[in-house]
Amino acid sequence: MVQEAHKKNIVILGFMGTGKSIIGRRLAVELRYHFIDTDKMIEDRTQKRVPEIFDESGEAYFRSMEAEIVKEVSELSHHVISTGGGVPINPENLDCLEQSGILVTLTARPEIILKRVQRRKGERPLLDDGNSLTTITRLLSERLPYYSRSIIAIDTSDIQIGESVRRLLKQITPHLQGIN
Ligand code: S3P
Repeated sequence: MVQEAHKKNIVILGFMGTGKSIIGRRLAVELRYHFIDTDKMIEDRTQKRVPEIFDESGEAYFRSMEAEIVKEVSELSHHVISTGGGVPINPENLDCLEQSGILVTLTARPEIILKRVQRRKGERPLLDDGNSLTTITRLLSERLPYYSRSIIAIDTSDIQIGESVRRLLKQITPHLQGIN
Protein backbone atom coordinates (compact mmCIF):
# COMPACT_ATOMS: atom_id res chain seq x y z
CA MET A 1 0.00 0.00 0.00
CA VAL A 2 1.50 3.32 -1.07
CA GLN A 3 1.62 6.07 1.53
CA GLU A 4 -0.30 9.08 0.22
CA ALA A 5 2.49 11.42 1.32
CA HIS A 6 4.68 9.84 -1.37
CA LYS A 7 2.22 10.62 -4.11
CA LYS A 8 3.26 13.63 -6.06
CA ASN A 9 0.72 14.06 -8.82
CA ILE A 10 -2.99 14.21 -9.52
CA VAL A 11 -3.94 11.63 -12.14
CA ILE A 12 -7.20 12.08 -14.00
CA LEU A 13 -8.85 8.94 -15.35
CA GLY A 14 -12.13 8.61 -17.15
CA PHE A 15 -13.95 7.79 -20.33
CA MET A 16 -13.76 9.88 -23.50
CA GLY A 17 -15.85 13.03 -23.25
CA THR A 18 -15.89 13.27 -19.46
CA GLY A 19 -13.82 16.48 -19.50
CA LYS A 20 -10.41 15.18 -18.38
CA SER A 21 -8.28 17.63 -20.36
CA ILE A 22 -10.20 20.83 -19.83
CA ILE A 23 -10.95 20.16 -16.17
CA GLY A 24 -7.42 18.90 -15.55
CA ARG A 25 -5.90 22.02 -17.08
CA ARG A 26 -8.00 24.29 -14.86
CA LEU A 27 -7.32 22.17 -11.80
CA ALA A 28 -3.59 22.50 -12.44
CA VAL A 29 -3.89 26.28 -12.52
CA GLU A 30 -5.74 26.27 -9.19
CA LEU A 31 -3.20 23.97 -7.56
CA ARG A 32 -0.23 25.71 -9.18
CA TYR A 33 0.76 22.37 -10.65
CA HIS A 34 1.97 21.69 -14.18
CA PHE A 35 -0.45 20.08 -16.61
CA ILE A 36 0.28 17.22 -18.96
CA ASP A 37 -1.91 15.12 -21.23
CA THR A 38 -0.86 11.62 -22.34
CA ASP A 39 -2.63 11.82 -25.73
CA LYS A 40 -1.01 15.18 -26.44
CA MET A 41 2.41 13.72 -25.61
CA ILE A 42 1.82 10.84 -28.01
CA GLU A 43 0.75 13.30 -30.71
CA ASP A 44 3.76 15.53 -30.14
CA ARG A 45 6.14 12.61 -30.25
CA THR A 46 4.70 11.03 -33.39
CA GLN A 47 3.75 14.31 -35.04
CA LYS A 48 0.43 12.64 -35.80
CA ARG A 49 -3.11 12.97 -34.47
CA VAL A 50 -4.52 10.02 -32.49
CA PRO A 51 -6.94 8.91 -35.27
CA GLU A 52 -4.08 8.88 -37.78
CA ILE A 53 -2.01 6.67 -35.47
CA PHE A 54 -4.92 4.21 -35.08
CA ASP A 55 -5.46 4.28 -38.82
CA GLU A 56 -1.87 3.89 -39.96
CA SER A 57 -0.32 1.77 -37.21
CA GLY A 58 -3.25 0.19 -35.33
CA GLU A 59 -4.50 0.25 -31.76
CA ALA A 60 -1.79 -2.10 -30.42
CA TYR A 61 0.91 0.33 -31.52
CA PHE A 62 -0.98 3.23 -29.92
CA ARG A 63 -1.32 1.28 -26.66
CA SER A 64 2.41 0.52 -26.57
CA MET A 65 3.25 4.20 -27.00
CA GLU A 66 0.68 5.04 -24.36
CA ALA A 67 2.33 2.62 -21.89
CA GLU A 68 5.73 4.17 -22.57
CA ILE A 69 4.38 7.66 -21.93
CA VAL A 70 2.63 6.53 -18.74
CA LYS A 71 5.96 5.29 -17.35
CA GLU A 72 7.55 8.63 -18.14
CA VAL A 73 4.85 10.82 -16.65
CA SER A 74 4.72 8.67 -13.53
CA GLU A 75 8.21 9.92 -12.69
CA LEU A 76 7.09 13.54 -12.61
CA SER A 77 5.98 15.49 -9.59
CA HIS A 78 3.49 18.30 -9.03
CA HIS A 79 1.70 17.59 -12.27
CA VAL A 80 -1.95 17.11 -13.07
CA ILE A 81 -1.81 14.21 -15.53
CA SER A 82 -4.77 13.80 -17.84
CA THR A 83 -4.89 10.31 -19.32
CA GLY A 84 -6.47 8.86 -22.46
CA GLY A 85 -9.69 6.98 -21.70
CA GLY A 86 -8.13 3.56 -22.32
CA VAL A 87 -5.03 4.04 -20.15
CA PRO A 88 -6.27 2.16 -17.05
CA ILE A 89 -7.23 -1.02 -18.93
CA ASN A 90 -3.54 -1.92 -18.91
CA PRO A 91 -2.86 -3.06 -15.33
CA GLU A 92 0.77 -1.91 -15.49
CA ASN A 93 -0.37 1.60 -16.42
CA LEU A 94 -2.78 1.69 -13.54
CA ASP A 95 -0.21 0.40 -11.03
CA CYS A 96 2.35 2.96 -12.19
CA LEU A 97 -0.12 5.84 -11.99
CA GLU A 98 -1.44 4.75 -8.63
CA GLN A 99 2.09 4.83 -7.24
CA SER A 100 2.67 8.22 -8.79
CA GLY A 101 -0.38 10.18 -7.84
CA ILE A 102 -3.82 10.55 -6.38
CA LEU A 103 -6.25 8.89 -8.78
CA VAL A 104 -9.33 10.89 -9.69
CA THR A 105 -12.05 9.66 -12.06
CA LEU A 106 -14.41 11.82 -14.08
CA THR A 107 -17.64 10.18 -15.17
CA ALA A 108 -20.63 11.12 -17.31
CA ARG A 109 -23.79 9.43 -18.52
CA PRO A 110 -23.53 7.67 -21.92
CA GLU A 111 -25.94 10.13 -23.65
CA ILE A 112 -23.90 13.08 -22.43
CA ILE A 113 -20.67 11.44 -23.56
CA LEU A 114 -22.23 10.85 -26.99
CA LYS A 115 -23.28 14.49 -27.30
CA ARG A 116 -19.82 15.70 -26.32
CA VAL A 117 -17.88 13.40 -28.63
CA GLN A 118 -20.20 14.21 -31.53
CA ARG A 119 -19.16 17.85 -31.24
CA ARG A 120 -15.68 16.76 -32.28
CA LYS A 121 -16.32 14.17 -34.91
CA GLY A 122 -13.47 12.01 -36.22
CA GLU A 123 -11.34 12.43 -33.10
CA ARG A 124 -12.30 9.18 -31.34
CA PRO A 125 -11.39 6.18 -33.52
CA LEU A 126 -12.99 3.72 -31.10
CA LEU A 127 -16.37 5.38 -31.56
CA ASP A 128 -16.31 5.53 -35.34
CA ASP A 129 -18.41 2.41 -35.85
CA GLY A 130 -21.71 4.17 -36.55
CA ASN A 131 -23.27 2.80 -33.38
CA SER A 132 -21.61 5.03 -30.84
CA LEU A 133 -24.13 4.85 -28.00
CA THR A 134 -23.99 1.05 -27.90
CA THR A 135 -20.20 1.15 -28.05
CA ILE A 136 -19.99 3.78 -25.31
CA THR A 137 -22.28 1.75 -23.04
CA ARG A 138 -20.32 -1.45 -23.64
CA LEU A 139 -16.89 0.11 -23.14
CA LEU A 140 -18.07 1.96 -20.04
CA SER A 141 -19.25 -1.22 -18.38
CA GLU A 142 -16.04 -3.07 -19.36
CA ARG A 143 -13.92 -0.26 -17.94
CA LEU A 144 -15.86 0.47 -14.79
CA PRO A 145 -13.67 -1.75 -12.56
CA TYR A 146 -10.54 0.09 -13.71
CA TYR A 147 -11.94 3.58 -13.31
CA SER A 148 -13.21 2.56 -9.86
CA ARG A 149 -9.67 2.22 -8.54
CA SER A 150 -9.60 5.98 -7.93
CA ILE A 151 -10.36 7.43 -4.53
CA ILE A 152 -12.23 10.46 -5.86
CA ALA A 153 -14.95 10.56 -8.54
CA ILE A 154 -16.99 13.40 -9.98
CA ASP A 155 -19.92 13.07 -12.37
CA THR A 156 -19.54 15.92 -14.87
CA SER A 157 -22.84 15.25 -16.70
CA ASP A 158 -24.86 18.13 -15.32
CA ILE A 159 -22.33 20.62 -14.03
CA GLN A 160 -20.16 23.32 -15.59
CA ILE A 161 -16.39 22.98 -15.81
CA GLY A 162 -15.82 25.50 -13.00
CA GLU A 163 -18.07 23.54 -10.66
CA SER A 164 -16.27 20.27 -11.48
CA VAL A 165 -12.98 21.96 -10.63
CA ARG A 166 -14.38 23.33 -7.34
CA ARG A 167 -15.70 19.92 -6.31
CA LEU A 168 -12.43 18.24 -7.20
CA LEU A 169 -10.40 20.77 -5.25
CA LYS A 170 -12.58 20.24 -2.21
CA GLN A 171 -12.07 16.49 -2.34
CA ILE A 172 -8.40 16.53 -3.27
CA THR A 173 -7.14 19.13 -0.81
CA PRO A 174 -7.25 16.89 2.30
CA HIS A 175 -5.11 14.32 0.46
CA LEU A 176 -2.50 16.90 -0.47
CA GLN A 177 -1.41 17.66 3.04
CA GLY A 178 2.13 16.45 3.42
CA ILE A 179 2.79 16.49 -0.33
CA ASN A 180 3.42 20.13 -1.10
C1 S3P B 1 -9.26 6.28 -26.02
C2 S3P B 1 -9.47 7.56 -25.58
C3 S3P B 1 -8.87 8.73 -26.24
C4 S3P B 1 -7.58 8.33 -26.98
C5 S3P B 1 -7.84 7.18 -27.89
C6 S3P B 1 -8.37 5.94 -27.16
C7 S3P B 1 -9.94 5.17 -25.30
O1 S3P B 1 -8.57 9.75 -25.30
O2 S3P B 1 -6.58 8.00 -26.05
O3 S3P B 1 -8.76 7.59 -28.86
O4 S3P B 1 -9.52 4.01 -25.45
O5 S3P B 1 -10.90 5.44 -24.53
P1 S3P B 1 -9.69 10.68 -24.58
O6 S3P B 1 -10.22 9.90 -23.42
O7 S3P B 1 -8.91 11.87 -24.14
O8 S3P B 1 -10.72 10.98 -25.60
